[in-house]
Amino acid sequence: MKKDSNKVKPEKADGPGGATMGRRGFVKAGIGAMSVCYVGAVAYPVYRYLAAPAKRAEETAKISQIALPMDKLPPAGTALTFMFGSRPALLIHLADGTKVCLDAVCTHLGCTVKFETDLQRIHCACHGGVYDARTGKNVSGPPPKPLKPYKVEFANGQINISRA
Ligand code: FES
Repeated sequence: MKKDSNKVKPEKADGPGGATMGRRGFVKAGIGAMSVCYVGAVAYPVYRYLAAPAKRAEETAKISQIALPMDKLPPAGTALTFMFGSRPALLIHLADGTKVCLDAVCTHLGCTVKFETDLQRIHCACHGGVYDARTGKNVSGPPPKPLKPYKVEFANGQINISRA
């Protein structure tokens, strides 16, 4: 039987003997693994950086009660701005001794409102909104709703403020 001389013998793609192909494959796999590690080393801190504020905001939104030391009580006729979780709040000590706590986020477009000691009212500097300091009711300007009230209680030498 005659041997077919036209028959092409399959060659190894990377060279004779197969040894070079193994090395190239190994180097390619190593470069691929290093690339994956590099991308992970860069991407993970970026992910942590971006995810952390969202997670923190989620945790602080769950806060339903806080306690302030008694020495934080503002003098009569003034107010204290503090953070209730992730939101600013106002602890108002009215001139007649009444203590009121209100959310300090304007119901118009979300600016932080301030207590005006001279006029004994809550004012939003962004668009001139005005709220009643005793009730949080919106009395003039663009705010569409009153400020959300918090419950204030005094116990064990602390000011306990909770969602109403
Ligand atoms: S954001 Fe307060 S009045 Fe507009």
